[in-house]
Formats: sequence, C-alpha cells, structure tokens
Amino acid sequence: MRMYDLIYTKKLGGALSPDQIVFWVKGAADGSIPDEQSASLLMAICWRGMTTEETLALTLAMRDSGKRLDLSAVPGLKVDKHSTGGVGDKTTMILGPIVAACGVPCPMFSGRGLGHTGGTVDKFEAIPGLNVELSEAEFLRSLSETRFANSAQTADIAPADKKLYALRDITATVESIPLITASIMSKKLAGGADALVLDVKCGPTAFMKTLEDARTLAQSMVNVGTAHGMQIRALITRMDAPLGWAIGNALEIMESVEILRGEHAAGELAQMSFRLAAEMLIMGGAASTLAEAQAKVQASIQDGSALETLRRFVALNGGDATSLDDFSRLPQAGQVVDVLASQDGYIADIDGRSLGILAMDLGAGRRDRSDVLDLGVGIRVLAQVGQKVAKGDLLFQVFAKANQLVLPDLYLSTLRLTMNSTVQSPWLLASIGC
Ligand code: URA
Repeated sequence: MRMYDLIYTKKLGGALSPDQIVFWVKGAADGSIPDEQSASLLMAICWRGMTTEETLALTLAMRDSGKRLDLSAVPGLKVDKHSTGGVGDKTTMILGPIVAACGVPCPMFSGRGLGHTGGTVDKFEAIPGLNVELSEAEFLRSLSETRFANSAQTADIAPADKKLYALRDITATVESIPLITASIMSKKLAGGADALVLDVKCGPTAFMKTLEDARTLAQSMVNVGTAHGMQIRALITRMDAPLGWAIGNALEIMESVEILRGEHAAGELAQMSFRLAAEMLIMGGAASTLAEAQAKVQASIQDGSALETLRRFVALNGGDATSLDDFSRLPQAGQVVDVLASQDGYIADIDGRSLGILAMDLGAGRRDRSDVLDLGVGIRVLAQVGQKVAKGDLLFQVFAKANQLVLPDLYLSTLRLTMNSTVQSPWLLASIGC
C-alpha cells in the first residue's frame, strides 16, 4: 500500500477503505508515514469530507492505536460528558459531582487549555495539591470511592489522535466534521464509559458556526457512538458570550462551588449543567423521565450531597478540600481592577472569544503549549447580554498579576452596546436523542 495513492484518491473525492485507513493511522502514529503526507491527506479530508463508513473506520483505527480502559470493576452504567469547548465552560466540575451524588458513576478525562478556551485540567489544578494526572489505578479508585473521576488524558489513550491533532493544529485542518468526530469519539470509546452526553457548541466563536453544521457534527458523533454500542445523546448549545461569570482557573472553581451551593440557579451555566446532568442520569438508569432526573439533580444541590461529593473527590486525590469552603486558600490575583461602563446603552452582545484572549494574556491560558499559567488571574464578567447599563456601572473585574498593566478599553471593546433593548436568545438550540 502506498500513502501517495490514499492522498490521490481523497484529492479526487473518493472513499478510502478501512484497510487503507488503518494503514495511515498506524503509520502516522509509529512515524513510518512522514508528517507531510499525513498533513496532505488531512487537508484533502477537510475539502472532500468522509463517508459515514470512513468516519467509523477512522474512529476505530484511532481508538485501537492505544489502550482501552476497562471500568467493569466499578458497578453500574458509567456515563461521561464531552463539550466541544467554550470560554468559561466549567460544566464538568459542576455536573460530575451532581451525577455521582445521584448514584451514577462519572468517569471523565479532560484536557489542558490552549488558545482562548480554558481546559478542565488547568481549572482543577487551581485546587491546591489536587492530583490532576491520575494513574489508571488512582482513576479507578476515585471512581469506585466517590463515583467521580477526572484526570488528564493519559498518553496511552488513542495516541494516534495526539499525533494527528498536533498536525491539524499547525495545518489549519482542525475544523472538519469527520476529523473532529474521530478525534473525540476515539478517545471517548477508549475511555470505557457506557454512555455519553455531548454538548456541541454553536456560534461565531465555536468550531461550528451554524446550527446546520452543529447538527451535522452532533449527528456524526451520535452515529459513531451508536454503531459501537454506546448510549449517546447530544445537546446543541449557543456559544458567544462567556458561560457564567468566571473566566480563569481559580475563579472558575469558585463559580462551580457557588453553583453546587445552590447560587446562580437561574443562570445559563447552572441551567445548562443541570440539564446535561439530567440527561446523564437518564442514560445511567437513575431516572426514567426528564422531570424525575431534574428533581434528583435539584435534590443533590439542596441536600449538599453534590458539593460533598466534590469535597470527597478532592480530598481522595490529594487536594485541599477546605479550599472549596474557604476561597482564600485558592490561588489569588495580585490586583483587582474594576472596568466601568463609559456610556449608557443596552448590551447587545459580548465577544467571548476576545475575553478568552484577554484572560489568556493575563496568564490564565496558554498561547503556546509551553506557557506556564497563573492560576489566580482571570476576569469576572458582570455584564450580561440584554442588560441596561448606565455610564459608571461595573461591567468587569480584572484579576491580574501585581503591577500588570490592565487597559479597561480593551475589555469595553468586547461589548456591543445599542440604544434599544435586546433579548438574549435561549442557550439550548437543539437536541439529538433526548
Ligand atoms: N476536541 C478534540 O478532542 N478533537 C477535535 O478534533 C476537536 C476538539
């Protein structure tokens, strides 16, 4: 088999056979196929797409490039969640403990942040002492003892994805529905969960800009999961403004804890986390209707069991659980700068991507993989779409390093103000399988 023939076939819009796909994925992972040939095929796939059969074969080849986790020692259906990523998205830290507290084991592997979106592993790392890189034995122990486990993806899960994703990252080939499907689903299938809820983000700052594309991606992942015997549901959610009030690692831990305490319950972040958790409870067999699942979610907040599960998870994995009740024990910023409205108006939209980049520049995120984070810095977003503001109102608080230059105009430029009142559109745009 020659890699040249695979590239040529795809360049002309043809389909690759499962054997050809296995040949490519193996060769990319073991280095026998040069990066320039893989990059060339990736670009051809971006332009020509893949059939459902090719996407399935690619997912399987990537899954089988590494280890598959066996979670069968932990009783019950194991339910995972994946979000395609957004600024301020901390739903994992909220719904994981809720689902676990309601009796459903929740195994989750997460990533570190790169660019304008943060990563769950970095956020958890803001909890002093917490081990965010669990061994397989530690992961299984956490899942058995607290029903919640979250860790950085280990190198032996779908290593071909790591290789191909790094190439996609530098060749502008990330935004392809079959490639995203295979990348996400290979890791999820190797991770060993029985069921998965997907949060597919849609909007100007997400991978999928239109509802049609978001639906196609969601359906593609649902098809692959179903074909491999995984229960799978998808919510398509709006992504433009940041999710919740916090951007930045320690700040996002604080906001997650506040929600687990029952605060901000009517807000978009809480509503989205509660709905995703409810879908997970249904798939895990803890509820048979959405109403029953939502009642269980609420009960876990009100009786404190969800927050207690988070405390137990943190303590078991070496973290300072008292920091969840005493935020002064979390990493702190060197200075806090208030950003005030410079004019009257209504907030028509908030550019989450630009705020994500500003947070990254403060030190909350990485421009380059080797950047070292400052876990205490970030942004508190008080502005909300639809809100009427008067000159002098507090719109942002910037948590910066001591002596770091903060230019309020940069933050104000992320808001579009109008003279007429505006309404925020609903966060839930569509669902599949719910
Ligand atoms: N996240 C992934 O893990 N892979 C992609 O291709 C895109 C987002």
